[in-house]
Amino acid sequence: MKILKGFSKLSSEEKRRLAVSSCADPEAAKEELESFIHPDPDIQQILEGISENTVSNYPLPYNVAPNFIVNGKQYMVPMVIEESSVVAAASSAARFWAARGGFHAQVESKTKVGQLHFLFAGDHNRLNAAMTEIEAFLRNYVAPVTRNMERRGGGIRQLQLKERSDILGNYFQLLATFDTIDAMGANFINSCLEEFAEGLKAFFKDTEDFHADDFEPLMAILSNYNDKCLVHVSASCKLEELEEATALLSARDFARRFVMAVRIAESDVYRATTHNKGIMNGVDAVILATGNDFRAIEAAAHAYAARSGQYRSLSTATIENGIFTISLKMPMALGTTGGLTRLHPLASRSLEILENPTASELMRIAGAAGLANNFAAVRSLTTTGIQSGHMRMHLSNIILQLKTTPEETEKIKARFEDKKVSYQAVVSYLEKLRTP
Ligand code: MEV
Repeated sequence: MKILKGFSKLSSEEKRRLAVSSCADPEAAKEELESFIHPDPDIQQILEGISENTVSNYPLPYNVAPNFIVNGKQYMVPMVIEESSVVAAASSAARFWAARGGFHAQVESKTKVGQLHFLFAGDHNRLNAAMTEIEAFLRNYVAPVTRNMERRGGGIRQLQLKERSDILGNYFQLLATFDTIDAMGANFINSCLEEFAEGLKAFFKDTEDFHADDFEPLMAILSNYNDKCLVHVSASCKLEELEEATALLSARDFARRFVMAVRIAESDVYRATTHNKGIMNGVDAVILATGNDFRAIEAAAHAYAARSGQYRSLSTATIENGIFTISLKMPMALGTTGGLTRLHPLASRSLEILENPTASELMRIAGAAGLANNFAAVRSLTTTGIQSGHMRMHLSNIILQLKTTPEETEKIKARFEDKKVSYQAVVSYLEKLRTP
């Protein structure tokens, strides 16, 4: 093994050469990587600035799902995702619900969380008793960092001291909540937390009965468990209005089977994980399209799904007094300013397509996309089964791979209209077509 030193300092060209050295045809591989570099050097520079050791770009399809009605407003929702059935499912569910009043969504709160983790070897009672004094001192100490955010209406909301010697001897947390208005706010929160550490050190140094040496800051970092930054989305209709949901079942039977499917996901972890993955199909695609951090949303979603100690479905479905309702509640810490949202040209374009939403509006749209995908997935699962739709998409992928002529494509599509799709079956049929 040869350890590469100073790799990040090499030119893109050199990095590419090294990156493809294990490929069967390094020259062809390098050319392929180069072919994905953006022709506009300014855009390429932005992309390279976002990350590190960039040797190419990795394009994913940029799709749109029309007919999303959220709180009475119509949206064309940009979705970046490689799974074609997701966009088809979102579009079909959006259209279905558009005819039934669309999605209703509220943001319950936009409060975000951060923690300063520290050890305190002094008198714990004295520390707990001084918290009011500490809070006033820290708010003043971090004022240069919070001033701008406060001007925009945001800032630090709450500061709490948590003694957690149950986890580690002398371990405390300063648990802070923030409102970052339309920004995702990670940098703002982390800067405040790091300033809190400096501020606490100064406080202990200058306050009677405290010693700076008793204080050992350990970590200052936001928490992705934004269990207060929640969006709640729902869609309802009369049972009879579900008639068009499927040709296979009566509206009543469809609703009954749908509710049972969700009930299973509320209690069984194997089903709940897949059920929630279906929700995240829609959510992540919107998050990626708008330049937000999908890993953060994923982490929060799954932690929230397990908040009772049992991992459960994030969505619910009910039939009450003849009304069928689906709903979804989940953390959704999104931003529409700062970070990648305005830096990445397509993220910025997505926000423009969405008519430049506020963070709350984007939370509602992403939630609606999640619920739409969940509805479409459970509808397929409880009626036709998921494979018929997936296989149609799979067939398109196989056709693409086999580089068929337009005429062959038509024949293959007609042939597999009502047959099981497999790569081998399509290849055999194509061979037959091509045999004179
Ligand atoms: C596939 O990407 C998503 C589903 O598995 C979701 C679900 O099972 O609910 C279809």
